[in-house]
Amino acid sequence: MTLRVPEVRRFADKEAVSRAAADEFARAARAATAARGRFTVALSGGSTPKRLYELLTGAPWRDVVDWGAVEIFFGDERRVPPDDPDSNYHMANQAMLEALPIPASRIHRMETERPNLDVAALGYEATLSRVFGVPAGSATPPCFDLVFLGLGPDGHTASLFPHTAALRETRRWCVPNWVPQKETHRMTLTYPVLNHAAEVIFLVAGEDKAAPLAEVLEGASDPERLPSQRIRPVDGKLVFLIDSAAAAKLARF
Ligand code: 6PG
Repeated sequence: MTLRVPEVRRFADKEAVSRAAADEFARAARAATAARGRFTVALSGGSTPKRLYELLTGAPWRDVVDWGAVEIFFGDERRVPPDDPDSNYHMANQAMLEALPIPASRIHRMETERPNLDVAALGYEATLSRVFGVPAGSATPPCFDLVFLGLGPDGHTASLFPHTAALRETRRWCVPNWVPQKETHRMTLTYPVLNHAAEVIFLVAGEDKAAPLAEVLEGASDPERLPSQRIRPVDGKLVFLIDSAAAAKLARF
């Protein structure tokens, strides 16, 4: 198991982080499409990636990606309908998906509006199994070409929140997760999938991320309290694209 040291790239501001992320998206998409005829990516939610998604709908990035070969997944989703302002799908759809020629059959939304969230999570696993051609329940999870993640002020990523049950999932690829801190259920990809990706990119910007980022990258290992620490792709690349505000408390970067 070759755990690599994270690659940390620091930029002046969030716009520069977003442009660098768009470059990475285009690079990874072109490489995967050339090698395997398609590009599988999991989008992160929250607010940070919105600018990245907006940039991808314009030049130069729009023109260099074969959007018909892109398979869009999500790292996590809130327990809201797809047209809810809090929905990660809604944010990505408005910022990017509805403006790009991606076949609807290749946009895989987490259906968290369904009555039974566990059935919905199993359905998402079935979609992962079908698209990646990996039997559900297989010990070898799907391997995303690229996963985008964010970092919460409490050190969470996707919907892997501190001290929640999903942190301890070692077999399933997608699970519901009760988040007492927010008194809500979420759905999230799990460490087995996230740590099997070919590349994971954290987008971290803003001064409210300086403290958690310093703890995650330079603090003592405490992944129950800082779930982002346990994102360590087994054979993949781990990249942090950060702005100066988020880097303010780092000693080494
Ligand atoms: C979510 C995200 C979550 C997000 C972080 C950072 O559903 O909220 O998936 O993991 O990436 O909370 O969010 P911001 O980018 O809004 O700070």
